[in-house]
Amino acid sequence: MAAESPPRKAWRSRRWFGARDLRAFGHRSRLKQAGFTEADYAEKPVIAVINTWSDMNPCHAHLRQRAEEVKRGVFQAGGFPVELPAMSLGEIMVKPTTMLYRNLLAMEAEELLRSHPVDGAVLLGGCDKTTPALIMGALSMNLPAIFVPAGPMLIGRWRGAALGSGSDTWKYWAELRAGNITEADWTEIEGAIARSPGICMTMGTASTMTVVAEAMGFTLPGAASIPAVDSGHARMASESGRAAVELVRRGLRPSDILSEAAIHNGIVAAMALGGSTNAVIHLLALARRVGVPLSLDRFDAVSRLTPVIADLRPSGRWLMEDFHYAGGSRAFLARLAPLLHLGCLTANGRTLGDNLEGAVVASDEVIRPLETPLSGEGGIAILRGSLAPDGAVIKPTAAGARFLRHRGRAVVFADYNDMAARIDDEALEVDETSVLVLRNAGPLGGPGMPEWGMLPIPRKLLRRGVRDMVRVSDARMSGTSYGTCVLHVAPESFVGGPLALVESGDTIALDVPGRRLDLVVEEAELARRRARWTPPPPRYGRGYGALFSRHVTQANEGCDFDFLHTDAGPPVPEPEIH
Ligand code: FES
Repeated sequence: MAAESPPRKAWRSRRWFGARDLRAFGHRSRLKQAGFTEADYAEKPVIAVINTWSDMNPCHAHLRQRAEEVKRGVFQAGGFPVELPAMSLGEIMVKPTTMLYRNLLAMEAEELLRSHPVDGAVLLGGCDKTTPALIMGALSMNLPAIFVPAGPMLIGRWRGAALGSGSDTWKYWAELRAGNITEADWTEIEGAIARSPGICMTMGTASTMTVVAEAMGFTLPGAASIPAVDSGHARMASESGRAAVELVRRGLRPSDILSEAAIHNGIVAAMALGGSTNAVIHLLALARRVGVPLSLDRFDAVSRLTPVIADLRPSGRWLMEDFHYAGGSRAFLARLAPLLHLGCLTANGRTLGDNLEGAVVASDEVIRPLETPLSGEGGIAILRGSLAPDGAVIKPTAAGARFLRHRGRAVVFADYNDMAARIDDEALEVDETSVLVLRNAGPLGGPGMPEWGMLPIPRKLLRRGVRDMVRVSDARMSGTSYGTCVLHVAPESFVGGPLALVESGDTIALDVPGRRLDLVVEEAELARRRARWTPPPPRYGRGYGALFSRHVTQANEGCDFDFLHTDAGPPVPEPEIH
């Protein structure tokens, strides 16, 4: 990419290294301590490589090596790379949920960039919350930045069958509880379902968000679908390092990339993927970091116009490796071109339309034509009604068609522990027409809005062959989950939303085509219950949890901290160099 260099003294890092004073002496002498001379860094843009590698995040196990490949690219392009580790947020290991910490990583990324002598950044992430968190932080700091997605892991294999991350875990767990597979089978699956570094290879939250990041322009073209262990992934990493240097030279910042049109492209991509419901929350948060107005209704409007063309589990049949061989994220976006704003700028300095030129779909089975989609409408619907005045989310493509219009008797669980204690009780009054309701699983109640929204089917129903029921909660759901699960009910029950007032035996009416979720109870009775309701005590009295509890917003607003929204106050000043 040809680029004009701005005057070098304009580079931010010069404020640390360029002066002939005492402080600059210290900065330069400490780089010498690290083994670098002025030939390494002087007159060069300094590129932060923010790396979310850790031993506790196997999805990012290869990122230590990828960071080296990024650095090689930065050096080649005439920059000076510096690696800055950031919290890893391995989705499986971190409790109570990584969502409690997405905003903490976003803050860490922002402050790493602000406090260090860097001019631009390469962001290494991919496991669920790391993608939105890193981009949120980069947006708020607004230094030139490119995202390197970790890439999907290899397909799982067991007795000749392809295993998908998460989705097949839930499926075989149900079969184990129903007595259809043995403990020995289950142990074999444990060793067969995650075969390499990389993110979940179903169309879960991780791949949804990396493809969305590409659609919004934050990666190189085609980067999101390259399998983590493919040699092309290493090449993409070094190319991203080169691109970061050029971004700095051009002065192209995240705020130039994340326009309202780019956010539209991200929503279209999420819908056409049949992607994770978590994308709704993350995109709401990203939009608020750049002051772009975005409401839940926009997702529903885009969804109604966007066919699901990625035939990927859990909505469809294939997995991310298949998707890549079918042409990958670039071909997928090229097929969506009529629905996208192609003039948006991207991280290689070209427009999205330029990047998609010449992309070829190699399998219409995996990436369907717009005319013969997996579903004529997008994968996510927004519901409103007396049970969710501020909205709720459902993924119709992963739900049982017979439940999309349903009235059933509520079976209410006060919280996760209550559900875990009673769900398999033979005496539980429940049948396949019941609606399972989980309370206190939202942003404040969870805390952190854990992925509990795919409530397990009661064992006695599993034995009768039941595999889906209507479930309603203020929780989130893993992108790899499936079933008729109404999620993100807002306001959440912990703050006294109508979900707090539901009692077992009430009738709940779900109407997905009509976009309604209603509690069929007389208003006078609801008023009596509301008068009796008392707010639970705060989950945290001190520490990060207390900060989270005081400032997190509800699901329909993106669950960011209110003080991190663009309009929360004047811009944060650059640090003084004393
Ligand atoms: Fe890391 Fe799924 S657990 S992407």
